[in-house]
Amino acid sequence: MNLFRLDGHEIPFQSGQTLMDAALVAGAYIPHLCHNPELAPHGSCRLCLVRVGGRLVSACTTPAVANLEVESEVPDIQASRRAIVQMLFVEGNHICPACEKTGACQLQAVAYYTGMLTPHFTHFFPRRELDASHPDFVIDFNRCILCELCVRASRDLDGKNVFAISGRGIGSRLVIDSPTGKLGDSTFSASDRAAHVCPVGAILPKRGAYAVPIGQRLYDTAPISQVGDVAANEGRRAP
Ligand code: SF4
Ligand code: FES
Repeated sequence: MNLFRLDGHEIPFQSGQTLMDAALVAGAYIPHLCHNPELAPHGSCRLCLVRVGGRLVSACTTPAVANLEVESEVPDIQASRRAIVQMLFVEGNHICPACEKTGACQLQAVAYYTGMLTPHFTHFFPRRELDASHPDFVIDFNRCILCELCVRASRDLDGKNVFAISGRGIGSRLVIDSPTGKLGDSTFSASDRAAHVCPVGAILPKRGAYAVPIGQRLYDTAPISQVGDVAANEGRRAP
């Protein structure tokens, strides 16, 4: 059996798997926000940084190789991840106590995992819209972290291309392919895979708010390093 070591723990893998894929299947947590095992790796959030042979690499794009020694949960890498999460918090408007996704949000859970206590950087307070034009879903662009999971899911799983990223750098934003730019005028539907991959509270179903009470949600009961995320749990199926 092929094995590598993640922070000293043996992780089995099959040929062609990345470090992330193998870790997910083994139930080992490497932080991630732009990864979903159903979709091709994107390598954009950089939260999955790990050290292999003295070099920092993205676990979601690096193939597993037998006998690799991989460092993940070490102080300097955790500090880098914490800085990335802090930047994500100040670039958008993430008001956790007032967000319907609190307790089930991967960004919030990763902030706890990396020991983030303050945003550290100055808030941008961007002015962004909320789109409630669709009968079943609402998009709050204030919470979008531009992970492109919905973009890839719509394109690669739903065959629709409802979403895209427009602009560059700090001007980047999520856009919707419809005559008005509104979700309600697009081909998006509640059964789309893209409706269920957002790691934060940017794409939310209507009429489902607070179905699970605060205090009883996924990351209220255990840290993300123990329970992973919904996509990760699905990814634990045998390859
Ligand atoms: Fe990612 Fe959600 Fe933004 Fe789509 S809406 S890019 S899934 S954060
Ligand atoms: Fe690897 Fe986002 S999960 S870069």
